[in-house]
Amino acid sequence: MAHYRSVLITGASSGIGEALAHALAAAGVTLHLSGRDAARLHRVAEACRQRGATVAEQIIDVRDTAAMEAWIGGAGRLDLVVANAGIAAGSGRTDGERLASTRDILGTNIDGTLNTVLPAMEAMRTQPLGADGYRGRIAVIASIAAFVAIPGSPAYCASKAAIDTWTVASARAARTAGIGLTSVCPGYIRTPMTDRNRFPMPGLMEADKAAGIILRGIAAGKIRIAFPWWMAALARIGGLMPPRILGKLLPTPPGGDPT
Ligand SMILES: NC(=O)c1ccc[n+]([C@@H]2O[C@H](COP(=O)([O-])OP(=O)(O)OC[C@H]3O[C@@H](n4cnc5c(N)ncnc54)[C@H](OP(=O)(O)O)[C@@H]3O)[C@@H](O)[C@H]2O)c1
Repeated sequence: MAHYRSVLITGASSGIGEALAHALAAAGVTLHLSGRDAARLHRVAEACRQRGATVAEQIIDVRDTAAMEAWIGGAGRLDLVVANAGIAAGSGRTDGERLASTRDILGTNIDGTLNTVLPAMEAMRTQPLGADGYRGRIAVIASIAAFVAIPGSPAYCASKAAIDTWTVASARAARTAGIGLTSVCPGYIRTPMTDRNRFPMPGLMEADKAAGIILRGIAAGKIRIAFPWWMAALARIGGLMPPRILGKLLPTPPGGDPT
């Protein structure tokens, strides 16, 4: 697998970001890890230090464009950046999104991703080419939810569709500039985000297994990684269905009155 000496991960205080940090932590590796919860981020950073990594902890809200530019622009050479921070239905909801959380979800998942990726691309453009033929690589954590408009999760699906499409459509031009861009579309992964779900989650995968799949896909230079493949295929089929039929197969969650 590719060896990254300097990696930046947003949303590293929990779930998939935490699992990626653990998987990448090793002697000779510098990790720039961010989140909002200082105690949880510190716990992850300490575990990575135990594995020999040098870790810089950054408490930062991904929606803060100026702060994100300053942080990423000042991080030095970056071999890999993972725009992972994201939110779903909002504070502890188990029954679908409320209209009131629409801007929060879109702002965090779209603006927060762009606030990570755009300064990272800017910084990587002037980095020398590495031995792997890349100036740097950037992964965006989208979702299989990008492929289908799930009743009850309109803002989440819209946000993930936006960042997946943007990433995939930008990848070819980025590659000619020496930058690898990958959109990551996981199915259900066991993290605090899904722990609150009270509905069946087919194919639920452990976060460390997902981290391995993500890192292998990035190293292989994939433009999109969607897994498990059968969930991605089902989501694509759902996305082709007339909304009325899809709505019968995936009913709006109980209590999901979006007001
Ligand atoms: N779990 C799944 O099944 C699944 C499937 C597909 C895609 N994803 C995507 O994977 C990514 C990680 O999700 P997860 O499942 O690991 O969830 P998680 O455990 O809830 O972790 C989310 C992370 O994002 C950070 N974050 C959220 N809002 C932020 C903000 N405004 N500024 C900075 N950091 C912020 C959180 O930091 P703090 O807690 O410190 O605030 C936390 O570290 C998300 O983009 C999610 O949409 C998840």
